[in-house]
Amino acid sequence: MRLSRPPFAPVEFKDVDLLDSAYYATGDPHALWAHLRQNEPAYYCDPADGREPFWVLTRYEDVARVLRDHRTFSSRRGTMLCIIDLSMPDFASDEMMPDTDPPRHRQLREPVSRALTPRAVASQEDALRRIVHELLRPALDGEVFDLAQAALMFPMAFTGTLMGLPREHWRRMAELTTMTIAYDDPDYSLGDPKQTIRLAHHELFDLFRAEARDRLATNREADDLIGILRSMNVDGERLTEQQLILNCYALLLGANVTTPHATSTLVMAMAEHPEQFEAARKDPELRRPLVQETLRWASPASHFMRYAVRDVQLHSRTLRAGEPVSVWLGSANRDERVFERPYEFDGTRTGNRHLAFGVGPHYCIGAGLATLGLEVFLDELLNLVERVEPAGEPVHLASNFVAGYKHLPVRLTPRAGARRRPMAGPA
Ligand code: HEM
Repeated sequence: MRLSRPPFAPVEFKDVDLLDSAYYATGDPHALWAHLRQNEPAYYCDPADGREPFWVLTRYEDVARVLRDHRTFSSRRGTMLCIIDLSMPDFASDEMMPDTDPPRHRQLREPVSRALTPRAVASQEDALRRIVHELLRPALDGEVFDLAQAALMFPMAFTGTLMGLPREHWRRMAELTTMTIAYDDPDYSLGDPKQTIRLAHHELFDLFRAEARDRLATNREADDLIGILRSMNVDGERLTEQQLILNCYALLLGANVTTPHATSTLVMAMAEHPEQFEAARKDPELRRPLVQETLRWASPASHFMRYAVRDVQLHSRTLRAGEPVSVWLGSANRDERVFERPYEFDGTRTGNRHLAFGVGPHYCIGAGLATLGLEVFLDELLNLVERVEPAGEPVHLASNFVAGYKHLPVRLTPRAGARRRPMAGPA
């Protein structure tokens, strides 16, 4: 998705199909969101073609309110707008962490979240450095390098390791997770969007099933994330195989479809703002706020969804019980009511209350890991690279859910004497 800035061209927003994936690759969603925040903060989007209407909330305070208030806005019927009929029951309801409400949600989440606290993931720092080296090494010959394609393997490698997934499947798993959210993108679609999602789910679930059965057959206990899922109790019972698979899927999807785009956005921002890159080299204290600003700027997960449990009045409209409500994180993170100079990338920004990881009970469980990964990535980029330059037009991913790059050609000028470690990384 283009990270555009005002002045925006006038938006004929009534003509925009908010579900249309191609719009997010070639249109100007930031212009549309600015218009909605200003003029229709509670917008009822009716595709008028048989697909169910849904509410669109774009202001920061409304987005945060919905995500915090699980009693009024439930996750049980699914949390993503996609081509699948919103009026259909969600087969993962109450089974998969993102599609549950407290108190069941807490039981599914807590054992996993204990393994992903910032303190727990700090032990991953060396492994993350190795992965970043491996990812950047081919770029250090000064040739044009497609950062977006390389970055797809970044979360796959660290989450694959933490989950204990066999390395030989990582490349295919990264591709399959992208297919589930870019089902209309010509490079990922099999032609029919529903078919693309179905096949990707099927193949991914088979891979998780094989791993679960292999552990069972060989009596293999492990203290990795799959091991934690296998040993947890929910309402006094172990997870069924189906629940185990769904929660493996949630973890891998959460990591794989977001982190690559924050990584690419970070590199792009450093190409556009070489003075901020230099400042972070001189002052390591600047690296943390710079990563937070990257998350605000990128907002890789564009929206999430809830269903209203009761009637709610908002901006003189009534959101009726049972209606789907989409909240747009990418818009909230540019809300001029909350952020000064929202359309400026400012790595020294303080008090950055961005919502890139959401807020409330479903706040991203991988936030600590993703943040550490991005900080290590920036650190290593500064260690290895003198300068980052764009080397061609970026191509954006066609997805109404993920704001991301499909191709990001860059040229990296290596630093003289940059320390390079020989190590194993992504497959
Ligand atoms: C830059 C990277 C990432 C971004 C921007 C991101 C964004 C988000 C957001 C906005 C949510 C809230 C969803 C909601 O309210 O319904 C979320 C939840 C979640 N994320 Fe992330 N995520 C990232 C990385 C990761 C990683 C690395 C993992 C896995 C280790 C992960 C796994 C999950 C899971 C399982 C949930 C559901 C949590 C729950 O329902 O309690 N994410 N993520």
